[in-house]
Amino acid sequence: MIRRYSSLAVSAAVLAGILAVTAPEGAIAQDSRAAQAAEMTPRAVNFTSTAPQAGGALVLPLASAAALATGSAGLDEATRAGIERALASGGFGYAPRQTMVLRGIGNWDRIVLVGLGTQALPADGHWSGAVAGRTLVGEEGPITVLAGSLPAETTAAFMTGMGIGHYRSDLYRTTREAAPVSAATVVSDNIEVARSAFEGRGTALIEAMAWTRNIANEPANVVYPETFVDRTRAAFAGIRGVTIEVLDVADMERLGMGALLGVGQGSERPPRLLVVRYRGAGAPDGGPIALIGKGITFDTGGISIKPGAGMGNMKMDMSGAAAVTGTVLALARSGAPVNVVAVSALAENMPDGGATRPGDVLTAMNGKTIEIISTDAEGRLVLADALVWTERNLQPSVVVDVATLTGAVGGALGDDYAGLFSRHDALADQLDAAGRATGERLWRLPLHPSYAQDTSSTIADIINSGAGGAGAGTGAWFIGEFISRDIPWAHLDIANMAYGGPSDWKPAGSAGFSVRLLEQFVRDWQPVPRGAADGGE
Ligand code: BES
Ligand code: MN
Ligand code: ZN
Repeated sequence: MIRRYSSLAVSAAVLAGILAVTAPEGAIAQDSRAAQAAEMTPRAVNFTSTAPQAGGALVLPLASAAALATGSAGLDEATRAGIERALASGGFGYAPRQTMVLRGIGNWDRIVLVGLGTQALPADGHWSGAVAGRTLVGEEGPITVLAGSLPAETTAAFMTGMGIGHYRSDLYRTTREAAPVSAATVVSDNIEVARSAFEGRGTALIEAMAWTRNIANEPANVVYPETFVDRTRAAFAGIRGVTIEVLDVADMERLGMGALLGVGQGSERPPRLLVVRYRGAGAPDGGPIALIGKGITFDTGGISIKPGAGMGNMKMDMSGAAAVTGTVLALARSGAPVNVVAVSALAENMPDGGATRPGDVLTAMNGKTIEIISTDAEGRLVLADALVWTERNLQPSVVVDVATLTGAVGGALGDDYAGLFSRHDALADQLDAAGRATGERLWRLPLHPSYAQDTSSTIADIINSGAGGAGAGTGAWFIGEFISRDIPWAHLDIANMAYGGPSDWKPAGSAGFSVRLLEQFVRDWQPVPRGAADGGE
C-alpha cells in the first residue's frame, strides 16, 4: 500500500509540469459550467405589507378555507371569488404539499395554491414552499406570495423551501436554457420577523442545500476526493470563523489510518480526510459538535463488485460528507453562534490490482484489526478511522456520523425515515426533535448487544460485514466500536433518503437529505453529559 502511493507521488512529480497546464484547465472549465448551470443565483425576495400588483404568478400558502379570507386581503373581489370557487369545486384539502394551479383568473398568469396543513408548522412550510418552488421553475414574470397572517417562522420557512425547490439538477445538459430568476415579493402582516428569519437563516440554507446537491449530483469523474476538497475550499472562502484542514495519504499513513487507506487503495484517486471547522460561539462549551460524513465518491463495491444495474447512483455515496459539509456551510454563512466541525472521510472504492481483497486484514488508527469479508462494506471502514481521528484530535462533546451505509435500512424504513442509532437517549431525542421540526424524519433502531457476535472474526478483532439479519444494525454497531462509549454518539443511515427519482419538490438526483435536520440540531443543541450509555437496545 505504501509503495503504491509513493509511486503515484513520483509519477505525479515527474508529470507536474504537464499536469499544471492541462489538468487545472479542464477542471476549471467543467467547474464553471456546472456552477453556471446550477443557477446558484438565488431568487431575490422582498417583504412588503402593501397589497400586490397583479401580474406574473401568485402563490397562496393555505392552512384552511378560513385562512383564504384573511390571507387574500388586497386581492380584488373577482379574483378572490374565482379562487374560492376553484377551491370548493376542486375538493382542495389544505394538506401539506397539496397544490392546485389556476389560470385565467384576474390579471395573473397563474395562481398557485399550496396546502400548509391545519397547524401551518414551519416544517410543513418548508416542504410546501419547496413544492411551490418546483412548480415555479422557469417562471419569467414576478412572483407574489400572499402570506398574510401566517406565523413569521412559517412564512420564512415557506420562502426557504421555495428557494430549495427551485433547484435544477441538469448540470450537463448542453441544450438547457438559462431561465431568468425573477424576484419574489412576500406580502405579510409580520414582515420584520419573517424577513429577519429568512435573511438570517433561510438564504444560507438555500445556498448550502444547492451546494450539497450539486456536489452529490456531480459525476465521479468530476468529484473525487481531491476535487471534493477543492470545492469545499471554494465554498468557504472568505467566511469568518472557518478553518480547513486536509490530511493526505502521507499524513494518514503516518497516523496508521489503515481502514480508510485500505478502501482507497484500489483507486487512482487518492483518499483524503477533510476537516471543516466553524467557530461561531465564544468559549467552546466542552468541545465542538462533530459531524462525520461518509464520503465514498464512487462505490463499485471493490473486489466484491456490485451488479451493474443502478451502479451509477453510487456517485452519490458521498452524500453523508456532502451533507455534513453543507450543514457547516449553512451555519457559517449565517454566522450561527455555534461551534461545529464537519469531518469527511473521502475515498473512491474501486477494484484494481492493488485493491483490498476479501479476507485481507486492515488495522485502524486505534490499532483494532479488521477482517474484510466484503469490500463493499466500505463505508464503516472509512468512518472508523474518521471517528478515531475526531475523538483524538477534536475532543468533541458529541459526535454524529451520517452515511449512505446500507441498503437494508430502506428495507426497514422505506423512504419516509432515515435510520437513527445511538446509545445515548438524550442525544437520540434531540436528533428526533430536529427531524420533526424540519420534516427530515428519523426513526430509531436498536444497537442490540447480539451484534457483537454478528461482527466477531475468527482471525481479527472485528469483521466488516455482519452475520445475522440486522444489516443496518451491524453496520452501526461496527462504527460504534471506534469511539469511546462515554462520548454521546449517533449514527444516521441515510442510504434510503439521500437520492431518488423526481418528486413534487425536487428533480431526480440528490435530495440533500439531513442538511436541514442537522442545521436545526446544531442550533438547538443542549449539551448532554459525557457518561455511560443509557439506551439504544
Ligand atoms: N453504499 C452502499 C449502501 C447503499 C446501497 C447506498 C443502496 C445507497 C443505496 C454500501 O457501501 C454497501 O454497499 N452496503 C452493503 C453492505 C453489505 C455488504 C454488508 C449493502 O447494503 O448491501
Ligand atoms: Mn459498498
Ligand atoms: Zn458505499
